[in-house]
Amino acid sequence: MLIRRIKLLKCLGARCSSSHYVTTPIFYVNAAPHIGHLYSAVIADAHCRYQRLRYPTADVRLCTGTDEHGTKIQQAAANHKVPVDQYCQEISSRYREVFQAAHIHNDDFIRTTEERHKQAVAQFWRTLHSRGHIYSAAYSGWYCVSDEVFLTDSQLRLDEASGTRYSLESGHPVEWTEETNYMFRLSQFQDDVRHWVKQEARIRPAKFEKILLDTLSEPLPDVSVSRPSNRVHWAIPVPGDASQTVYVWLDALVNYLSSLGYPNEEFLDHWPPAQQVIGKDILKFHGIYWPAFLLAAGLQPPQQLYVHSHWTVDGQKMSKSKHNVVDPVQAAQQYTMEGLRYFLLREGVAHSDGNYSHVKALRILNSEMADTLGNLLSRACAKSLNPRQVYPQPHVEHLADLLRSVDAAKRLRDSLLQLSERCEAHYECNHFHLVADTTMAALHAANNFFESARPWELKTGNEGANEPRLATIIAMTMDALRLCGIVLQPIIPQLATRLLDKLSVPASQRGWDCLNENFARDSISRSSSSSSRRSHDLDGQSSAMLFQRIMEEKDKAVQQKPQPQPQPAKRSKSKKERLKAAAAATTITTTS
Ligand code: MSP
Repeated sequence: MLIRRIKLLKCLGARCSSSHYVTTPIFYVNAAPHIGHLYSAVIADAHCRYQRLRYPTADVRLCTGTDEHGTKIQQAAANHKVPVDQYCQEISSRYREVFQAAHIHNDDFIRTTEERHKQAVAQFWRTLHSRGHIYSAAYSGWYCVSDEVFLTDSQLRLDEASGTRYSLESGHPVEWTEETNYMFRLSQFQDDVRHWVKQEARIRPAKFEKILLDTLSEPLPDVSVSRPSNRVHWAIPVPGDASQTVYVWLDALVNYLSSLGYPNEEFLDHWPPAQQVIGKDILKFHGIYWPAFLLAAGLQPPQQLYVHSHWTVDGQKMSKSKHNVVDPVQAAQQYTMEGLRYFLLREGVAHSDGNYSHVKALRILNSEMADTLGNLLSRACAKSLNPRQVYPQPHVEHLADLLRSVDAAKRLRDSLLQLSERCEAHYECNHFHLVADTTMAALHAANNFFESARPWELKTGNEGANEPRLATIIAMTMDALRLCGIVLQPIIPQLATRLLDKLSVPASQRGWDCLNENFARDSISRSSSSSSRRSHDLDGQSSAMLFQRIMEEKDKAVQQKPQPQPQPAKRSKSKKERLKAAAAATTITTTS
C-alpha cells in the first residue's frame, strides 16, 4: 500500500524521470492499413528513435496496436463473410506486418480482443463506477456507426432529398437510437479538462489546443459509455451487467493502460504517457473524454498530445469509394519502405493536411535521397578517387588551407557547426520536415564543396604529393555524410545504418554526442580531437550505392539499376536547378 502511494505521488509529480512512454492510436480493423495509418506510426517511431538517440539512458517505450470491437468491425466481417474473430486476426496481422516492414520499433502491439485488455477495461470501469462517475439513464440521440459516436443536432447535416442525416465533421450517415445506457459524468470534468489542456505544450501544434478550448467553452454534456448487448455484442461486457457492453471509445482508450499491465501497479513505472500521437479526427476523444476518464479514475492524463493532420491524395480525401486509398505496401514497392518513410516525414507537417502525389514523391526522393545523399557517398567512395577504400584523417595544414581558400569549405564548416543544435531543436518539436531540410542543406553544402575542391584533379600528375590534400577533401566529405547519417537515423533508420556501415562507423560512435566530433569542430577548437578518429578502412562488404534513382517505366515506378559514378562530375547545380532537373526528369519519364 505504502509503495503504491509513493509510486502514485512520484507519478503525480513532474515527470517520471527516465520513463518516456509514447503511443500511437490503435487502428480499426475494418479495413487494411493505408499511408495515413502508417503516418501516425512513423511519427511516433521517429520521435522514439530520436529520444533513444539523444537520451540514451531514457526508458523509451512505444506502444501500438489494433482496435477490434464495435458495430463497424462486426459489419465489415459480415460483409467479407468471415467470422469476426478471424477477420480481426487477419487485418490486425496486416498492421503488424506493415509496421514491421516500415521498421516501426514498437515495444508492444496490443489488440483490444486480448484477455489482458478485457481485464484492464473491466477494472477501469469498476473504478469509475465505484467513484460515482457512472449512472444509468434512458438515452436517445443520433449515433454514427462509422465514427462510433453519438452526435447532437448541431453536429448534423440533413439531406432533404433522402431524409438522411450525416455527421458534419466526417460526412458519415447517422441513425436514430433510443436505449437505456450507462452515462459518464463528463460535465463534472469541464474545468479540470480545460485546466489540463491549457498547460504549456500540452497540445501540439497549438492550433489544436485552440480547437479544444473552443469546444470547452460550451457546457460539456454527459456521455453514454455503454450500448445494449443485443445491439452491439462484439464488445466487452459491462462488469456486473451482461445486458450492456462497454462503449468502444472507452474500451479503445484504455489500451494505453492495458499495454503497461494496468491494473497491476507496474503500470505506474511508465505512467503518464510522455506523448500520445493522434490524427486530428480523434482529437475530441483524446483531448476531452480521455483526460476526463483518467481524472475520474484518479490517474494523471498524458503529458502531451501530438496531433497530426491528414494526407489527401491528389487533393482529395482518401476513401474506398473514390478508389484512391494508398496502400503502403504498394507504395513501398515503388519507393522502398525507407523512401516512403522519408517522403511522409519530409513532406508531412502536423498543422495542415499534406497532399500525397506520386510526382512529388518521385521528385523528392530522386533529388534528395538519390542525387544529394546517395550520389555523394558513391563519389566519396569511388575507387578512382579513393583506391585504398578508406575514411581518411584530415591533414591539419590542408584543412586550414581549404577553409581559408575555398568558400564552399567554409560554408560546409558553418553548416556542420550548426547541424546538431538545429536538428535537436527541430526533433524536440517533432518537426521532422525541418530536420530533413537542415540535413539536406548540409549535404548540398558538402556536394558544393566536393565540386569546388575538384578532388579528381589531384589524381592527375603528382599523386604522391597531392595525397594529403585529396585525403583531407575526402575526410571532410565523409564527415558531412557521417554527421547527416547520425542525424537521419530516426527518420530513415535502415538507410542511415547502411550509410554508417559503409563508412565503418562503430555502433558506439553513432550517438548524438558524436555529432561534435568532426573537422568543423576541430578547426575551431584547435584541440585536434580528430586524432581519435584515425584513418580507417571502409566496409568492403557493404555497397556505396545507397538509394537508386527511381525511373518511371510506363505506369510503374522502378528503381534504376546501379550506375557507375562518373568522375569528374558535372558542375554542381543550384537548388533551383536541381529541383527543376528532377521535376523535368520525372515529367519526361512519367509521360514516356
Ligand atoms: N480506432 C480509432 C483510434 C482509437 S485510439 C484509442 C481510430 N482508428 S483509425 O484506424 O480510424 O485511425 C487511426 C489513425 O490513423 C488516426 O490517428 C487517424 O487520424 C489516422 N488516419 C486515418 N486516416 C488518415 C489520413 N488520411 N491521413 C493521416 N492520418 C490518418 O480512429
